[in-house]
Amino acid sequence: MSSYHITLLAGDGIGPEITAVARRLLEVVAQQHNFSLSFDPQPVGGAAIDATGEPLPASTLSACRGADAVLLAAIGGPQYDNLPRAKRPESGLLALRSGMELFANLRPVKIVPALIGASTLREEVISGVDLMVVRELTGGIYFGQPKGRVTSESGEERGFNTMTYSSSEIDRIARVGFDLAVQRSGRLCSVDKANVLDVSQLWRERVDAMASDYSGVEVSHMYVDNAAMQLVRAPRQFDVLLTGNLFGDILSDEAAMLTGSIGMLPSASLGSEGPGLFEPVHGSAPDIAGQDKANPLAMVLSAAMMLRIGLKQEAAAASLEKAVDAVLAQGLRTGDLMAEGCTAVGCQAMGDALLKALG
Ligand code: IPM
Ligand code: MG
Repeated sequence: MSSYHITLLAGDGIGPEITAVARRLLEVVAQQHNFSLSFDPQPVGGAAIDATGEPLPASTLSACRGADAVLLAAIGGPQYDNLPRAKRPESGLLALRSGMELFANLRPVKIVPALIGASTLREEVISGVDLMVVRELTGGIYFGQPKGRVTSESGEERGFNTMTYSSSEIDRIARVGFDLAVQRSGRLCSVDKANVLDVSQLWRERVDAMASDYSGVEVSHMYVDNAAMQLVRAPRQFDVLLTGNLFGDILSDEAAMLTGSIGMLPSASLGSEGPGLFEPVHGSAPDIAGQDKANPLAMVLSAAMMLRIGLKQEAAAASLEKAVDAVLAQGLRTGDLMAEGCTAVGCQAMGDALLKALG
């Protein structure tokens, strides 16, 4: 029997509640599909700051690197907003991505028919949307040097960051995008700002050069401002959206709103080898933490991505996704998705319903 070791990062805010739901489901689904999972909970983000003073303790990073996969809920909270940046929860997440060399962030955005009314956009615009943001995650302006803040002699302050990509960094993320396009509908739209930025000109050239390896993929390029507009104007035109780190951060939040709730979206962060990190796109929602109001579905769908991509347990992944479809079809909704005619449930009751749907 295969057995897998999962590092579990519950993090902050609603993290522990949604992690508990995902863990119960994973235990059951593993049993049903004849493999075993062991869980190693580790602190990260604010929880780690409280326990150790560091948002990413060395012990957490090494546990993550040694696991078969890492499942993370969410990090951050208002009580950490005034800490110096290096000590903030977000720095822990960035250090984790870079320490695990997770350069490829996959963020699928698929309309769930039962939730079509939850979007602020019209049904005819969003129905049938099924796209994947492929976001570069360990480079670009998030990590580029030089960066910092200086004060001139006259007292003028200046802050600066550098958007930088090397050809090999572009090539490895572009390859992920092209390979996914081959498995999906065969369309890849690369997002840049090549009309203004040198780094984007290089990005565009490298993507074009790679296109000759993939004759079956239809490649297009779009400036990021236009991509932001097209995502709400005509989102069905997109299949794979290939982006740098900052553009993908922004566009993936925008794309999330096509589905009506960011509480539905999972993600996977992958390197070229080693374990992947699977986490919901949403944050730690400190305003509703500890009140049994959180939507655990993105976390459960992240667990499904972990099973499929990280552990190659496709059947188990599909069962979890089916359970999510089933509870939505039953009309169960957490507050973020509540609509007329549906039944309001809390996080735990949603977990119970998911368990029941698993059988
Ligand atoms: C995300 C988040 C992070 C990012 C923050 C929390 C550092 O917004 O995963 O999209 O900017 O990458
Ligand atoms: Mg973001």
